[in-house]
Amino acid sequence: MTDQTATPRSFSASVPLKGRIAIPGDKSISHRSLMLSALAVGESRVAGLLEGHDVLATAAAMRAMGATIERRDDGEWRIHGVGVGGLLQPREALDMGNSGTSTRLLMGLVASHPITATFVGDASLSGRPMGRVIDPLAQMGADISASPGGRLPLMVRGLAPAIPLSYRLPMASAQVKSAVLLAGLNTPGITEVIEPVPTRDHSERMLRGFGAELTVETDSGGTRHIRIRGEAELRPQTIVVPGDPSSAAFFIVAALVVPGSDVTIANVGLNPTRAGLVEVLQAMGGNITLLDAREVGGEPVADLRVRHSNLKGIAVDPAVAPSMIDEFPILFVAAALAEGRTVTTGLDELRVKESDRLAVMAAGLKAIGARVEESEDGLVIDGTGGDPLPGGATIAGHLDHRICMSFAVAGLVSKAPVTIDDIAPVATSFPNFETLLAGLQQ
Ligand code: S3P
Repeated sequence: MTDQTATPRSFSASVPLKGRIAIPGDKSISHRSLMLSALAVGESRVAGLLEGHDVLATAAAMRAMGATIERRDDGEWRIHGVGVGGLLQPREALDMGNSGTSTRLLMGLVASHPITATFVGDASLSGRPMGRVIDPLAQMGADISASPGGRLPLMVRGLAPAIPLSYRLPMASAQVKSAVLLAGLNTPGITEVIEPVPTRDHSERMLRGFGAELTVETDSGGTRHIRIRGEAELRPQTIVVPGDPSSAAFFIVAALVVPGSDVTIANVGLNPTRAGLVEVLQAMGGNITLLDAREVGGEPVADLRVRHSNLKGIAVDPAVAPSMIDEFPILFVAAALAEGRTVTTGLDELRVKESDRLAVMAAGLKAIGARVEESEDGLVIDGTGGDPLPGGATIAGHLDHRICMSFAVAGLVSKAPVTIDDIAPVATSFPNFETLLAGLQQ
């Protein structure tokens, strides 16, 4: 079936990328800043919020549950919270659009409030597994009825007071960790998440920043024990959201692979639980310099100067995967242009993102002439050694913003244009992606 509303877009061989850009705010931090502000008593202020569709879905849901959320003309967001325990019953289903983070974290919040909420989403989100959050939240007492396979649409009937839980994460997922911690916010006593493999720690940092009693203890085996005391009182905050490293990733790789490029990306969040891509690209020979390293909103940031480089293929250590879990699609593009072989393993989680990112990237890269083999848990890619890819194909983006942007970058180093069947999903996380790209091509 052809989607009548799709907006195809072609990307072709580029002039050198030159200049300085600032990328939009971090998606993970933006979601959390709205959620926690909406649970604080009083007015919080958020600057640099990502105004992508995913974050706007979170804002709409928090409004539907009682928070007052406004954007001022100067771009600052003002949020009046309802207090932990104060979420109201939403009158209509919460539309999560494409956003897994909104869905899973908000399911956690609803689970320990005396309200019922129905969650719906687009075709991509409705195919994603929610069992991973349903399991722990049901153990805390929430009553959840989901569509077959533990999918959306689903309904969460919260329980208050909920039952505190000690939960060992069965997979490396910051969303599952955060869902349990957020449910713990309104649960009497201590809720614990045991995390054998560290994942992004924005929830922990921000919960503490808002005044929740939260401790993190790392045992001798490296496993993290995160404990939160419930029935917390959150104090309103002023937050500055740093730039999203997952959005910067597309311009980092674009500057590395487009010959003659020299780009500075300002204000990139470099929390160690997010910065894996920079490390891997540097190990591949990427010329990336960190300038003016500093702290913004309790998170490490720097400006990144990135120059065209002759990349070399490597075996990527699977241990780095959680710290660059959203960056593999664009890393695969870099690998397709590197000299020699890049091998990735341990990436089964990529199969349950906005699309099956291993299958979709393998198919798309093959279609534009790259040499790729797909294994159960990774891709093996033999690069061109810097020569342009043949290109000349239309790529199915599968409603996955990161697939669309990855192939847009591939188009910049292809002999024939690469067409994305629908560019619209880019607006979920990076509304001004094309504008920034055009600015670097002048
Ligand atoms: C996110 C966690 C990751 C990531 C997603 C955002 C978050 O998902 O892929 O884009 O904000 O917590 P998982 O926790 O499912 O790995």
